[in-house]
Amino acid sequence: MHRVCPLADLDEGKPFAVELADTPVVLVRQGEQVHALRDECTHAEVSLSEGELTRNGLECWLHGSCFDLRTGAPSTPPATEPVPVYAVTVIDGDVHVDVDTRTN
Ligand code: FES
Repeated sequence: MHRVCPLADLDEGKPFAVELADTPVVLVRQGEQVHALRDECTHAEVSLSEGELTRNGLECWLHGSCFDLRTGAPSTPPATEPVPVYAVTVIDGDVHVDVDTRTN
């Protein structure tokens, strides 16, 4: 498990990229909840953190697939495979991510 940053440092709905143990991760805060997904689109391996949050999830900037923040599943083509979603815990106001534990 890796301590990433204080929860207060994450802007609501703004993707935040971080590398943890050689794993690219994108964090997205929604209220007091934080989602952590692999920062790599399953269609053409570009960074999802450069995309935007929409009501359908995190949208890939290159071809527009949207990935659900909880399940990692794409709701729109061309991507067909889910991105890994990792366990997130907030401890004493700090965000921790476990890239060894997938939740999807
Ligand atoms: S690279 Fe992400 S949808 Fe094509």
